[in-house]
Amino acid sequence: MKTIMIAAAAVALGTAALTLAFSSVSWAQAPSHTVWEGVYTTAQAAAGKTAYDAKCTTCHGAELSGAEMAPPLAGGVFLGNWSGQSVGDLATRIHTTMPANDPGSLSNQETADIVAYILSFNQFPAGSMALASDPQLQTQIAIAAEKPAAK
Ligand code: HEC
Repeated sequence: MKTIMIAAAAVALGTAALTLAFSSVSWAQAPSHTVWEGVYTTAQAAAGKTAYDAKCTTCHGAELSGAEMAPPLAGGVFLGNWSGQSVGDLATRIHTTMPANDPGSLSNQETADIVAYILSFNQFPAGSMALASDPQLQTQIAIAAEKPAAK
């Protein structure tokens, strides 16, 4: 009986040690944030919608569903393209190549607001902090189509 108790205690201890090891590893290696953590505000997404409606709707559609040459900016295909890349990658893509008829015309702030709107349209949650307009900070946020398991 005593042996069994000791063995059980050893297993429990081992599990605790393992859990500790794993949680510290994932803490060190995980990308600092994902789009599931509330990385923009609803006010920012609203500002982004205004900019989007003025500068992107003609080609990408009011429902972000794309048209003719312009690909969708919402839904499975879009998320499939961007999952695994960062919000910074998406913002840089927009900032340097869009709108296709006037590339480079958006400010970093307008770009961040439009990205916030795209995130909200794709059902990622809003939070209490606005998405930074600094592309360097935006690269800390991973786009993940599926919500990562709780850590
Ligand atoms: C004149 C039409 C036009 C306008 C206006 C336009 N786009 Fe595009 N967009 C395109 C076309 C065409 C493509 C695909 C070819 C390419 O990448 O250049 C594209 C591609 C994209 C992509 C890449 C999508 C992917 O999954 O690969 C993003 C993101 C994007 N546009 C965002 C925007 C945003 C945001 C705006 C408004 C600021 C905008 N576009 C305005 C025509 C347009």
